[in-house]
Amino acid sequence: MIDTKIYKVPSIYGGEELLQSAADTIAKGGLVVFPTETVYGLGADGLSEKAVADIFAAKGRPADNPLILHICDSEQLALLAEDIPQEAIKLALNFWPGPLTLVLKRSSRVPDIVTAGLDTVAIRFPDHLVARELIRRSGTVIAAPSANRSGSPSPTTAEHCIADLMGRVDVIIDSGACKVGVESTVVSFEAGTARILRPGGITREQIAEVLGAAVVDPAVTNPLKNGEKAASPGMKYKHYAPKAKVILVKAGGKAFAEFVNGRDEEGLAAICFDEDLPDITVPAFSLGSCTDYEEQASRLYAALRAVDEHGAKTVYTHCPDTDGVGLAVYNRLLRAAAFEVITLAE
Ligand code: TXA
Ligand code: MG
Repeated sequence: MIDTKIYKVPSIYGGEELLQSAADTIAKGGLVVFPTETVYGLGADGLSEKAVADIFAAKGRPADNPLILHICDSEQLALLAEDIPQEAIKLALNFWPGPLTLVLKRSSRVPDIVTAGLDTVAIRFPDHLVARELIRRSGTVIAAPSANRSGSPSPTTAEHCIADLMGRVDVIIDSGACKVGVESTVVSFEAGTARILRPGGITREQIAEVLGAAVVDPAVTNPLKNGEKAASPGMKYKHYAPKAKVILVKAGGKAFAEFVNGRDEEGLAAICFDEDLPDITVPAFSLGSCTDYEEQASRLYAALRAVDEHGAKTVYTHCPDTDGVGLAVYNRLLRAAAFEVITLAE
């Protein structure tokens, strides 16, 4: 058990001393949970094999799932990646700092453990001042997966990180709730084409606007077939799941409310939209309006955790639209549900 320290750093102004102490912890090989605009990250020195191994241990993460390296300037990008395609540079110019992760050819500086042996490395320049200041002050790049125990919903508040990682990390920086609420968009490049391996805060539409086109990897919305290799290793695991069983329900109009109200099951709950609430008679957790995809993203993980706190056994979840950041919400819910989907006629 580590004596985890909690640093309240609402902004970089006034938080300098605590941030320096957290950065020193990284520089010395320790583990620091820090905020980003997407979700909280479980960070360590990304150039240290030992520190990165400690991330895998603290999180309980399978060794074959590679990590993202977080940078705070273009010099660090040049240190970590080689032969960067024009398309990647265009996306970086448009969306960095921001919720976008680029999968690029790795340089020899990147430890094998970070990439799980792949010849590519995932790199992200986060749009959160506390994150960037932490990276800058640590004097290295920070490897960080989401700061949850492997398999459980990602953390969007420091309280979520405390629940999962207290006693397993040196420092938890509390900077309040994360703005975006779902992880970064992971993009790889093949022969000039961008491929979305994981949808996230930067949308498919935004990427297509810059590059003319963007392919969404089939694994984003479909289970891998037997023996099929995941382009992004994280895609093969059941993910983001609360303890309650999640079942996704595709239904228009009032059909969702009628369906859940009609179920006769113990420990039943619903994750739904504001528009459903007036008609639902079972315990319900709303993600906001059915047309507000940003709000749905920002509330998703807290809702998945709230369902467990409520003690629900099964949570029927109203399937979101897949436009904009809705695709990321849909992708996370599909995985939380291990692809169990019920389709109702309207
Ligand atoms: O928003 C985010 O991206 C957050 C914050 C903390 O930055 N981080 C995050 O990390 O979500 P993690 O480890 O939970 O998810 C990283 C994803 C995984 O699905 C992993 O398989 C994929 O990125 N990934 C990492 N390196 C890769 C590579 N070289 N090729 C393909 N996929 C990769
Ligand atoms: Mg994660």
